[in-house]
Amino acid sequence: MSPGPIHPLLREAAEGELPSWSEAGPLRRAHIRRVMALLAEWAEVLALAEEERIRWVAAGALHDVLRDADPKILRDQVPPEFRGIPDSLLHGPAAATRLQAEGVEDESFLRAVAYHTLGHGELDAVGRALYAADFLEPGRSFEREWRGALARRFPEDPEGVLVEVVRARMTRQMARGWPLRAETVDFWNTLVGE
Ligand SMILES: [Fe+2]
Ligand SMILES: [Fe+2]
Repeated sequence: MSPGPIHPLLREAAEGELPSWSEAGPLRRAHIRRVMALLAEWAEVLALAEEERIRWVAAGALHDVLRDADPKILRDQVPPEFRGIPDSLLHGPAAATRLQAEGVEDESFLRAVAYHTLGHGELDAVGRALYAADFLEPGRSFEREWRGALARRFPEDPEGVLVEVVRARMTRQMARGWPLRAETVDFWNTLVGE
């Protein structure tokens, strides 16, 4: 749950108004809207309290706000532990860093944004929902049927769906010979109940 009242920046984002410092082109914004819509749908099925619903939808709105920014610039802005990650993953930690600088103190929310691509063993409800929605939103072109079924199943079985999503993402990374981050492995271990 969020500590204290929801930051106005999150409220505005949940209503579709992204911060002025966003760097997300039209295609990215379309993806962002689909992730928000999926999170809003799940929040409704789960009958989440209004504040929690706002946090979920705001996480969808803000996770990729810096996705189209220059990675060279982002690399200098993220905390030291993220300096070595690939270019395409910098936007999560960079967005969380910027949101914190803007006064967002909701740690669970910041973690959700920072780790939306890597995963993290300490992701709670909002972070897990964002991780799943980012992968399951209907605009991605691969394995539509399988992903659609997982999206419908998420509210009743979030852990089961996450196991499938994390497995698919890790398998793809391994098939390409990419390294796995400790946080990702930790997320997996948490989900399968190590
Ligand atoms: Fe992203
Ligand atoms: Fe995304």
